[in-house]
Amino acid sequence: MKKITVIGAGNVGATCANVIAHKDLCREVVIVDIKEGVAEGKALDIWQTSSINDFNTRITGVTNNYLATKGSGVIVITSGIPRKPGMSRDDLIKTNASIVKDVTEKAIRYSPDAIIIVVSNPLDVMTYAAYQAANKDHKKVFGMAGILDTGRYKAFIAQALDVSPKDIHAMLMGGHGDSMVPLRRYTSVAGVPITELLNDEELDKIDERTRKGGGELVNLMGTSAWYAPGAAAAMMVEAIVDDEHRIYPVCAYLNGEYNLKDIYMGVPVKLGKNGIEEVIELDMNDREKDMVQESAKSIREAMVVLDKMKLFE
Ligand code: NAI
Ligand code: 2OP
Repeated sequence: MKKITVIGAGNVGATCANVIAHKDLCREVVIVDIKEGVAEGKALDIWQTSSINDFNTRITGVTNNYLATKGSGVIVITSGIPRKPGMSRDDLIKTNASIVKDVTEKAIRYSPDAIIIVVSNPLDVMTYAAYQAANKDHKKVFGMAGILDTGRYKAFIAQALDVSPKDIHAMLMGGHGDSMVPLRRYTSVAGVPITELLNDEELDKIDERTRKGGGELVNLMGTSAWYAPGAAAAMMVEAIVDDEHRIYPVCAYLNGEYNLKDIYMGVPVKLGKNGIEEVIELDMNDREKDMVQESAKSIREAMVVLDKMKLFE
């Protein structure tokens, strides 16, 4: 791929650009920010690691100059504010929805065929906002959260069992927040079902820590995480660029799958060069179905705030 754009040169955006460069996924990564000099500085810093970390990808940083993003194959949107302790969800939606709309419209003008990956929070609502702003096939607009949440889930399981996280397969669905749905029936360690290795009480604790995983880090650092989120977004870029058909949990538009319509929510998908090649419908028991519907309900409650802003009329 010729060019990949990352919008937002903050903690997550810069980390994502850095990982994309390390993986040599394209000829050039363009980082855009609104703050004068920040994207330029971070791009230069990353570029100066090229001979140390052995990659060729050029990195360009620009302030609000979307012409430099022209012809991008993938656009990762990380611009916006992270939630600070005490900030309400509604305030976060109001601030970030305007930013996401603005940057999506500007970026898509120069790269009409690009696949868009949204990272800005609250993720499920911001992905819907980007979809409306981009006004294109929903298979090419989706969001990153599930890989991060599953990464946390696997990290906690690996700690509990003292095994390598590489041997854990896990699946987690739903919105990016307290209502996410870790699926223990679809989780295994080297093929052994997790339910044979950890009891319900132990798994409940891991589920709970995963659901609150973002908040745990905000409480520790005063801002939200970036290493795992940036790497997770880059992993999605890799699946697209290399047409890998990896199966990842992705915040995707649902059109009847899981009995849900006109909503963005985390579900397993097959990711490839066309974006979402397929939404995968897992077989679910009644308890799992209820949890998924509950999660969708909490996303719809947050969507009301976006709708009331009337940004897209
Ligand atoms: P940050 O504050 O470090 O970086 C955000 C950057 O966006 C800043 O450099 C800011 O100048 C830039 N920005 C703001 N408005 C802009 C505009 N109109 N155009 C271009 N750039 C603009 O924040 P951080 O930690 O990088 O987080 C970014 C977003 O990602 C937040 O909304 C955060 O909540 C979200 N996030 C989402 C995760 C997920 O799993 N989906 C995980 C972690 C963070
Ligand atoms: C995270 O999960 C807050 O979305 C951010 O780290």
